[in-house]
Amino acid sequence: MSKEKKLPTENYKGTRDFYPDDMRFREWMFRIMKKTVKLFGYEEYDAPLIESFDLYKAKTGEEIVGRQLYDFIDKGKRHVAVRPEMTPTLARMVASKNRDLPKPIRWFSIPNLWRYEAPGHGRLREHWQLNVDIFGINSYRAELEIIQLACEILFAFKAPKNSFKVKISHRKILTGFLKNTLKLDEAYEQAVAKLLDKKNKISKEEFEKDISVLLKNPAEDLKLVYSYLESNFETLDNFSGIDSEVISETKKLFSELKSLGLDECIEFDPSIIRGFDYYTGFIFEVFDTNPENKRSLYGGGRYDNLIGLFSNEELSGIGFGLGDVTLENFLKSHNLIPEIKKHNTIFIPLLDEKLFPNTLEVANILRKNNISVDLTLEDKQKLGKQISIAEKKGYRYLLVLGEEEASSKKIKLKDLIKREEKEINLENLIKEVESLFV
Ligand code: HAM
Repeated sequence: MSKEKKLPTENYKGTRDFYPDDMRFREWMFRIMKKTVKLFGYEEYDAPLIESFDLYKAKTGEEIVGRQLYDFIDKGKRHVAVRPEMTPTLARMVASKNRDLPKPIRWFSIPNLWRYEAPGHGRLREHWQLNVDIFGINSYRAELEIIQLACEILFAFKAPKNSFKVKISHRKILTGFLKNTLKLDEAYEQAVAKLLDKKNKISKEEFEKDISVLLKNPAEDLKLVYSYLESNFETLDNFSGIDSEVISETKKLFSELKSLGLDECIEFDPSIIRGFDYYTGFIFEVFDTNPENKRSLYGGGRYDNLIGLFSNEELSGIGFGLGDVTLENFLKSHNLIPEIKKHNTIFIPLLDEKLFPNTLEVANILRKNNISVDLTLEDKQKLGKQISIAEKKGYRYLLVLGEEEASSKKIKLKDLIKREEKEINLENLIKEVESLFV
């Protein structure tokens, strides 16, 4: 035996290998996502995994850039990063062709993203994220479409209306409250926003202790903070200093979402903050209503100035990211994952080396008619063994061609689930096989 040290077969921490069974599941998820966004007229784009570090430095936010970015100096001494999110890339692509692109721009992509995180429930280092964005619509109608679409994606997975909540807020509502109601110094605004974001993850005592240090009049302001956190879009008028136009847009958005029948799925939640620095308007996250599955499924919002990083042109965008890991957890938590079968591939065993040309001919006829075939290439195993392998691989239908069948231009069709078989004439082969899949 060789003494040579063997390499480990484990994959890198926080990543997944996708074996064919996993790929089938992933493709099923992506197919449903793509079909739904295409129904709203969104077109697919893609881009490289690596970007310049500067693309993220400006607006992606301290947590990701400072702690989670996979960045390195390449052989040409350029500081580059593996994309932790798609929005900066999208903004770069749109900015580069802005003048030529007819508006509004409706694009989607399902990139793999990398973040150096502590892997855990709903968090990995590599995940795939459906990104759906619309550019060039300044009114809340874009939010209406994007939030409706976010709900429709989950409905396409057969999620019931009460299984998730889209929690919506607005950056200007938050900044109005921090600046004008609490009258915070600019330097403290972000720290208070971060604490509001963290509130449900820490104890009440810790929250009050930490926030009191930042407030001007802790006793009175803390009451304001609590009433802000409990507010809904109808009581927002009670706070001095929140832009009335923003409040009325929020009301319009909610009333139109309700008229789409989505009232059960949406909620105004002033504690939604979103970590990225580029959001300027409506922000939202989608949560599972199952308390066991806490991570947000989607995160999104409006960003007015991202194109401005690349040129003097202005173009407002809004969109969201839906992660595959969190979606899978959601689907599991509501029992929405069907058995994803391979029944539309036909398995053809080989009974005798002599019959290979005949079986190959049958396989090729089927393939020409768009029917997938898994063909045995060597006659090394008895039929029984080949059938048990076919079952293990998840096939349902087999076509068995023995010497007798070959000479009488017939073939046996076996159904491994019903445990039935019948003889069919080769001239009816396509019709018979197609009828299995309707
Ligand atoms: P995000 O909130 O960072 O937003 O990510 C969106 C979603 O991606 C999260 O809600 C979660 O489902 C998933 N996700 C994020 N990080 C991980 C991770 N480490 N492991 C597993 N899943 C994860 C953005 O990235 C924005 N760029 C989205 C956007 C698009 N905003 C506008 N357009």
